[in-house]
Amino acid sequence: MQSALNKQIAEELGSAYLYQAMSADFAAKNRLGMAAWMQAQAGEEMEHARKIYQYILDRGGRIELMALAAPQQSWESPLAVFKASYKHEQHISACIHDLVKLARELDDTATEVFLAWFVTEQVEEEASVDEVVQKLNQLGDAPHALYMLDKELGARQA
Ligand code: FEO
Repeated sequence: MQSALNKQIAEELGSAYLYQAMSADFAAKNRLGMAAWMQAQAGEEMEHARKIYQYILDRGGRIELMALAAPQQSWESPLAVFKASYKHEQHISACIHDLVKLARELDDTATEVFLAWFVTEQVEEEASVDEVVQKLNQLGDAPHALYMLDKELGARQA
């Protein structure tokens, strides 16, 4: 369980790394609201990593930090970014569900209960990214509408 949780820390830090790269790509393309949204998302992922880190320590376990691969640096459109983010969140949800299965197999009730927060969080994460994907699908390439959506997304609180 400890090894699987350490791997999940790397998954969460990798998510932060990916979203920071998406934020940087938006900033380079002057989509500053979307850059801020992704920056807030990266911050949330750091929090997820810290939660698991603290849990391992609270259980008297050992932390093992792993190498992170360089994320993709550039995407062709805001829709491509948010679609990639949605796909990534589905991957993270699957990781969390595998962790729950493992905790059950090991009869590790404390870890199963700890992971319940992440199960709920993943439902929210997928829904919030999918909402942006659906909006972008409706807007198409309309510059004014994209400008307004960029402003709206920039209002997100970290
Ligand atoms: Fe920590 Fe977005 O999953």
